[in-house]
Amino acid sequence: MLISPHPDVTIGVGPAAHMIAEVADPASVSLAYLDPPYGTGRHFGHYADPLVGAHWAEELASTLRALEPVLAGHATIWIHLDEVSVYAGKNVADEVFGPGRYISTVVWERKDRPSYTHPVIANVLDYILVYAGTGTPRQLTVGQTTEGKRYPVHHRQNKVATLTFPPGSVTIGFEAKVIKAGRHDTKAIASTLDSDCEFKNGISATPMVMTGPFRYTQATIDSLAADGGIFHCPRLPLRPNYLARQVKGKPMTTLLSNKINGVPTNEVARTETGFATPKPVGLLERIILAGTLPGETVLDAYGGSMTTAVAAVNTGRTCRITEINPETVRDFGLPRFGTVDPVTVAALTAMHNGPKAQGAAVAAEEGFAPVCGA
Ligand SMILES: C[S@@+](CC[C@H](N)C(=O)[O-])C[C@H]1O[C@@H](n2cnc3c(N)ncnc32)[C@H](O)[C@@H]1O
Repeated sequence: MLISPHPDVTIGVGPAAHMIAEVADPASVSLAYLDPPYGTGRHFGHYADPLVGAHWAEELASTLRALEPVLAGHATIWIHLDEVSVYAGKNVADEVFGPGRYISTVVWERKDRPSYTHPVIANVLDYILVYAGTGTPRQLTVGQTTEGKRYPVHHRQNKVATLTFPPGSVTIGFEAKVIKAGRHDTKAIASTLDSDCEFKNGISATPMVMTGPFRYTQATIDSLAADGGIFHCPRLPLRPNYLARQVKGKPMTTLLSNKINGVPTNEVARTETGFATPKPVGLLERIILAGTLPGETVLDAYGGSMTTAVAAVNTGRTCRITEINPETVRDFGLPRFGTVDPVTVAALTAMHNGPKAQGAAVAAEEGFAPVCGA
């Protein structure tokens, strides 16, 4: 079952290994974030984590294998685990992707106020394994911006040509969903928009075709766009300016800490949703901003309360999510996007009351005894 609670969010309800191909097109995903059960054998308020050892590893491997065809060449994969599961998780990911694609492990300070329930030491950190997609990933930066030097694309002394700006490469500084084909002349330069161009959240969703005297060739436009270059049109008539990308701030480091760089902890996540094991929106925003450009696609294979979708929408990205538990989608995911349509509620309830979700089925098979309220 596919649900779209927001124009930029699609949720596939079912096991990730089956649903990833349903929600995402081949080579379309710029960043995949996975926050799977950690193989604890415990039961958390809203979902069971019954798979341990080899069963847990095989489940994670099947999700990673399903991910591979939908990854863009520049993609990064972020696998969020705890102090125990990170070691087995690295073995699984090395096996599926190959150890050469391992980039690093980001450490996130998950607790500001440790609970001293561990008999020996209070764990306050989670670990996020970062792997490269199928090609060369971009450099990850904090505070990356496209503001920088502007180069007008039109140049009146040059001969007239027609250029196509690929979808996603043009931004506009004014409100418009469609700019109709027509003349875009100024006193100095005659130019036309040759076909209607659609925009979504200020970013071109269809190719923008213009004729006029230009500074750049089509080959240069294509190569700048492929490199994430943006052509910004502040107003009408359309006069794209190439924004030379300027990386501001420091390259991203492997430390995400509330104390050091203001990344929220799980104490914050618990105030954002009633779900049992959420991650904070601010953590996901940090990861998405570092790893993707506006308009690109983020995928989360273990959606839970849909924190990743909220963060993607907040940062102007599109999101594809899979989540096995229809009840979680109904009670925790969808309400984050406003009132839930009663037909969708009924369909998810029927799905929940129908054949049991994979986790429950496996629990029965394994003779799993949940530790409630853990
Ligand atoms: C740790 S929670 C994710 C929490 C999420 N990051 C959030 O912020 O709410 C793991 C989620 O994965 C789901 N899940 C478990 N196995 C799955 C599978 N095979 N496919 C898709 N989702 C699965 C569980 O139902 C649970 O909601």
